[in-house]
Amino acid sequence: MDAVKELQERMLKEAVVINQQVVLLDAVLNHQVDPALIQEMGREFAARFRDAGVNKVLTIESSGIPAAYATAYELGVPMVFARRKQTLATDPDVWQERVPSFTKGIVTDILISKRFLGKHDRVLVIDDIIANGDAVRGLLNIIERAGAELAGLGVVVEKCFQEGARSIRERGVRVESLVKIRSLENGIEFED
Ligand code: G4P
Ligand code: NA
Ligand code: NA
Repeated sequence: MDAVKELQERMLKEAVVINQQVVLLDAVLNHQVDPALIQEMGREFAARFRDAGVNKVLTIESSGIPAAYATAYELGVPMVFARRKQTLATDPDVWQERVPSFTKGIVTDILISKRFLGKHDRVLVIDDIIANGDAVRGLLNIIERAGAELAGLGVVVEKCFQEGARSIRERGVRVESLVKIRSLENGIEFED
């Protein structure tokens, strides 16, 4: 079975809809992961971005890491994950952006060492869930400041009723989502 179909089936069986905005995917993405399914996702992202000239896959800890790793493995390139820190200190050796977290109600800094991102990189960003997109926008700002090129964004689950993916597409970025959720009002409704 292909990654998209299998992921949809797993979500219908194992996801927990908390309210009309939030769905818990702990059994599939955010706490437990199924390595075979994650590898299928990586294969799918790699197929979609095969000709995009990617030399590095970037994500943010922690839940983006499995899908980003699988994608990087399939493309045969390194994967780098931005770290999150609650710190006010600035470090000249890191790219750093402050991002608010809507669901957690806190502000964190995301950091990437300048050793691992620079102007020779052409980057594919992979993330697990996109909601308002604050974290991903922070990462895109870092890519721009580093002088790297952005090949695109791959997300496992796009929540279409929140603005994140749309606002990033409006910047002219290619966004590929494996699964799109149109609504959580009557359980999970996928967009086709
Ligand atoms: P985002 O769109 O950039 O992710 O920003 P937002 O501030 O909206 O989301 C903050 C965090 O909440 C992100 O995790 C995001 O994946 C998670 N999130 C948003 N909507 C949902 C949802 O419906 N279900 C679940 N399970 N998570 C959601 P994070 O801060 O990156 O944390 P981590 O998962 O990497 O530890
Ligand atoms: Na998350
Ligand atoms: Na994430």
